Amino acid sequence: METKILEVQDLNKENLKAAMEKSDDIAQAKIDASLEKVDEAAEIIKNGGLVAFPTETVYGLGANALDEKAVGKVYSAKGRPSDNPMIVHIARASDIGQLTPMLSSKIIKLVDSFWPGPLTLVLKKKDNVPNVTTGGLDTVAVRMPDDPIALELIRKSGYPIAAPSANISGRPSPTKASHVIADLDGKIDAVLVGGDCRVGIESTVLDLTVDTPTILRPGIITSEDIQAVIGGKVQMDPALILNRPRDESEPAKAPGMKYTHYAPKAQMTVIEGERGNVKKEIERLKALNERIGLKVGVILFEEKDFVVAAHEFFARLRQLDDENVDLILAGALSDQNEVGFAVMNRMLKSAGYNIARV
Ligand code: TXA
Ligand code: MG
Repeated sequence: METKILEVQDLNKENLKAAMEKSDDIAQAKIDASLEKVDEAAEIIKNGGLVAFPTETVYGLGANALDEKAVGKVYSAKGRPSDNPMIVHIARASDIGQLTPMLSSKIIKLVDSFWPGPLTLVLKKKDNVPNVTTGGLDTVAVRMPDDPIALELIRKSGYPIAAPSANISGRPSPTKASHVIADLDGKIDAVLVGGDCRVGIESTVLDLTVDTPTILRPGIITSEDIQAVIGGKVQMDPALILNRPRDESEPAKAPGMKYTHYAPKAQMTVIEGERGNVKKEIERLKALNERIGLKVGVILFEEKDFVVAAHEFFARLRQLDDENVDLILAGALSDQNEVGFAVMNRMLKSAGYNIARV
């Protein structure tokens, strides 16, 4: 299949603002040209096809969430296990009622505070949401993305859009259109080519079907942010913390074989410890491996630049893959900060929990 490349970069917040506030005709003409491309993409969704599109977190691979056949195609294009549920994206907060019978003051407060934005809510599902979309669960994950292209696509298609990240299953999530094209060209109907994703890691997933709201996937919206809005306790899914083999008596190569999430092609090690020691160890290992002829890539962010790290991490992994490095050495971030924790969640998975402590 030939994948249509639909350029829509001009449908962005700056142009929208200029067109609105200054009646800027040039900005308006650019927006209109992009809107035509979005129309084309919306037609594809309506006809049961697959369209990749930008969101503020990562690019998504969208299909009509209410069309079993279309959703089935998403699983096959990505090579995704069919028991892994998808997030359903909506363009108006009020559309949440089409997907779930749940309504509470907590939900309303969260939606008011964080939508559009990188917070996904797990809620009881209504019967019209097909089981394929939710991987057989009786809950549905819903979010309203903060991106004019995504919102316009959903609005124009007239359906909620199921969209996992637009990567081949197991590969790093795509934060640039070029990443999507590298993974899915020829496998999907179209790509809406917007700019780079602002956040860079996927949305925070919050389960509201349990007594204590529980974060199932950490993201840029933290438990503190959520607590500040709804009060009460918000917990981190214990599995997120247990997933970190921290026992120093264990060998560095933890049994991470089943964790092929976000995996770069190169072998990857995370170096954890006091900052100065981490830097020295990375330099030592780099020199050592280069001496035996290996190509080494390093991922080391500024110590407290958690938001920058989130923005850059997946793109760095893909860049190092493109450079054909043999080994990636990554400096751990502090997981005391929750955005740092969210990046570490991805970093450790990419490394298959291959951790060296210094
Ligand atoms: O930022 C994002 O969330 C991006 C953009 C495209 O919106 N999407 C994304 O989708 O990351 P995906 O499929 O790569 O990750 C969805 C995550 C998975 O970990 C999945 O297991 C979880 O959300 N999830 C989806 N529905 C769920 C449900 N009903 N209950 C529990 N977890 C669910
Ligand atoms: Mg994903």
